[in-house]
Amino acid sequence: MFPILPAIANRRSVREFQPRPVEPEVIDALLEAARLAPSSINLQHFRAIVVDAPEDLAVVRASAYQLPGVVNAPLVLVCMADVSADAELARGAEETSRGAPKVDMATLRSGAGSGFSLKIGREWALINAAIATENLVIQATEMGLGTCWHHHFEHAEVRAHFKLPDHMELLTLLLVGYPSVVPPARPRRASVRWPTAS
Ligand SMILES: Cc1cc2nc3c(=O)[nH]c(=O)nc-3n(C[C@H](O)[C@H](O)[C@H](O)COP(=O)(O)O)c2cc1C
Repeated sequence: MFPILPAIANRRSVREFQPRPVEPEVIDALLEAARLAPSSINLQHFRAIVVDAPEDLAVVRASAYQLPGVVNAPLVLVCMADVSADAELARGAEETSRGAPKVDMATLRSGAGSGFSLKIGREWALINAAIATENLVIQATEMGLGTCWHHHFEHAEVRAHFKLPDHMELLTLLLVGYPSVVPPARPRRASVRWPTAS
């Protein structure tokens, strides 16, 4: 009756993988799930580097301190947000004079004193990238893959190796592969509903 809920309930952070490579068409399906994600002002910030070549995997694994999950994942997606989309929007808002507030290009925020502020900039880009990443994670779970967000890594090393321009923000390394061990469910709060006075 609620077909997505089992995929969400069955997802685990997987850190032990079979050596089996992830097929190119499977990678394409994962990226498609991310491409279709919602994003604020439809700015579609998400970008991913597909890391499955041995020389690139070696750099990414070293950047993540050779931790066990990273070392045996056959595929790592470097999940990122391209903030340059915000600059295009800011230019458009200034040019079209549709009543949009003037944008301070230095900070990518609306001018001080404005009652309304455009919700653009780094944190919104990262939120949008996170939504796309989790879309991808759920699709991966449906396809029998294991994934794990991995945010402990040296950003500078990854940036340097892939020659990333300044407008690319790093979100996470996403480990992907066919699991060899699926860990048990970790505990969750009983409810996320915030009680109201009424
Ligand atoms: C933003 C984010 C960052 C995470 N970073 C790491 C990490 O660096 N290393 C790791 O082993 N797990 C990492 N995890 C996985 C969490 O530990 C895991 O989601 C949590 O313990 C719940 O377990 P489950 O995903 O199996 O339900 C991360 C998860 C998220 C959402």
